[in-house]
Amino acid sequence: MKIVVTTLQGLENVLAKELADLNLQNIKISKRAVECEGSWAQLYKCNYQVRTAIRVLVPIQEFQVSNEDQLYDAVYSIDWYPYIKEENTLAIRAAANSPVFKNSRYVTYKAKDAIVDHLRDKYGYRPSIDTKNPDTQVHIFISDEKLIVSLDSSGQSLHLRNYKERFYKAPLNEVIAAGIILLSDWNQQDTFYDPMCGSGTLVSEALMMASNLPPGYFIKEFGFQKWADYHPEIFKAIKQSADERIQQPECAFKGSDYNKFAVRDLKKNLQRLPFREKVQVFQRDFFKTSAHEAHHVIINPPYDKRVEQKGLDDFYKMTGDHLKNHWQGSQAWIFTTRKDAMKSFGLHSSKKYTLDNGGDEAKLYKFEIYAGSKKRG
Ligand SMILES: C[S@@+](CC[C@H](N)C(=O)[O-])C[C@H]1O[C@@H](n2cnc3c(N)ncnc32)[C@H](O)[C@@H]1O
Repeated sequence: MKIVVTTLQGLENVLAKELADLNLQNIKISKRAVECEGSWAQLYKCNYQVRTAIRVLVPIQEFQVSNEDQLYDAVYSIDWYPYIKEENTLAIRAAANSPVFKNSRYVTYKAKDAIVDHLRDKYGYRPSIDTKNPDTQVHIFISDEKLIVSLDSSGQSLHLRNYKERFYKAPLNEVIAAGIILLSDWNQQDTFYDPMCGSGTLVSEALMMASNLPPGYFIKEFGFQKWADYHPEIFKAIKQSADERIQQPECAFKGSDYNKFAVRDLKKNLQRLPFREKVQVFQRDFFKTSAHEAHHVIINPPYDKRVEQKGLDDFYKMTGDHLKNHWQGSQAWIFTTRKDAMKSFGLHSSKKYTLDNGGDEAKLYKFEIYAGSKKRG
């Protein structure tokens, strides 16, 4: 079957690699999504095991549409009976990226009317709408005039991994945190350290990754588990074989922040995760830290947006200087939306990626910190 896995902009290549590792076939990268082909078992794996997936969709049909009436007619023309029986509830979610269909909410209403009218006219019943916990979630995607109607097998967005209880200021989305770690070529041997950890999304995702804990491990129910053609025995086998691979990580982990509430929140968030004893959590000002051995450092510093930071240029300059003087032998990655402030950082990056962070363009920069690290001229 055809499968479309959605993600955040900038993570498409990482997602494609994750899907290739699970032997999905005919992988094609598009904007914020990767298309592929696979079996029921692979559809379930995409939901349970892929760290950079947001939603896993199964397309039903594609159309060309150039106005609202054509959109309605196209959705109406699908036989909805196999997917939505009388007792089922329904939700519709739309993403429109088109000069004709600018309002996603309106697209949602139009598609809902078409499905409900189809079932009433042809089968004599009207399904109830349940936007929170529907039995069937239909996904409408319009890019220019191309309409793709899919079933959403995930239910909720897969970044909601369900292990986090506390959200200190400006937490990263779990999918972006996992994507940053995968992009950062971490060898899973060097100690992983986030010295401005907030509520600790990066540390938690790194621990899950190194212990092979599936990202879906704590998710209570996926959308596909409510489908009429759900195969519980296949999902049970997928879950069992993935869970058997959970292992004690070889390396150590550290998360620190100068704010005591952030440290408290990280401790709380780690409580559900196996091997949390491998993570050292402490309150410390980054500018008082140093290392004598190689660490894999990832920092998501304040942007002076949701987390206030006075004198942002000076703060970024001090961060670059501190890494250069006290973190020699380590690799440091900085994830920020403030490329203006990064001009003051003072070190040359050896790699750079562009990602979308909640609608803002963000960059992930790599710095090799060694004695005499190059200063930018
Ligand atoms: C953008 S937030 C990090 C969010 C985090 N990545 C998460 O997912 O929860 C930036 C963090 O840097 C911390 N911070 C700012 N200055 C610091 C310093 N000098 N030393 C340590 N932490 C600092 C703030 O307290 C805040 O928690």
